[in-house]
Amino acid sequence: MQVPPDDTPLDVDRLRRQLLVHARHLRSAGIDWLPVATSPFAVAPMQPVTFPVAASESDDGREIASADSNGDELSIEQRRLALATLAAEVAACTRCAELCSTRTQTVFADGPVGAELCFLGEAPGADEDAQGLPFVGAAGQLLNKIIAASGFRREDVYICNILKCRPPGNRTPLANEAANCRAFLERQLELAAPKYIVAMGSCAAGNLLQSTLSVGKLRGRFHDYKGIPVMVTYHPAYLLPHRSPEKKREVWDDMKMLLTKMGRPIPQKA
Ligand code: URA
Repeated sequence: MQVPPDDTPLDVDRLRRQLLVHARHLRSAGIDWLPVATSPFAVAPMQPVTFPVAASESDDGREIASADSNGDELSIEQRRLALATLAAEVAACTRCAELCSTRTQTVFADGPVGAELCFLGEAPGADEDAQGLPFVGAAGQLLNKIIAASGFRREDVYICNILKCRPPGNRTPLANEAANCRAFLERQLELAAPKYIVAMGSCAAGNLLQSTLSVGKLRGRFHDYKGIPVMVTYHPAYLLPHRSPEKKREVWDDMKMLLTKMGRPIPQKA
């Protein structure tokens, strides 16, 4: 956030909006409290950050928040903080000129660090761009039903996307946009460290697994992403009434395959 020179009148509304956006990013990364100064004029003493987060360079010279150790060597609290740092980096990202000039805000994730299961989608849509959370629109309502029908609670699973910005008009992410976001996604998954991933739709599956096969060809078996079993299924948006609702049966078959692998009971359909 830019600090105005001393003689510039403070734009309190703008400051409030910026703080709100920042707080939402922290919230979506799992930070649900912050220390408050005792007096409105006092500055809370800074605690040294002791967890081993450092900046590193990706292949093309970009700095990506990273830890000296793997995500699974950090405590939950350290991973939560490292994810908040990463979410703040994502929020400041300007690598895709079109996306960063058209987005309202970035959409990092929803769900707790340490969740056993991660649902991975394509990119935020209009509702997600407005609210700063993934899968809160029509496709999100259907995803909520899939999660509940499978015996999970939405607040117990981790949800994120290949892209953290909304492509204008909800167009499919471009290959270079997915490549620009890749290091963020890899670090995010390393820190969130789910035990299982559900890749929803061809964009999520293709990008995560670096495959050009269709969802139809990828589903029905488990794939591997850095040691994590990945199940591929149809994107909930594809199951909406105006598209291919008949594919819901196949998604349910996929979820049953996943639940069996996770050693969880298969709920009876209501
Ligand atoms: N579709 C996605 O792929 N992700 C979202 O967050 C919402 C809709």
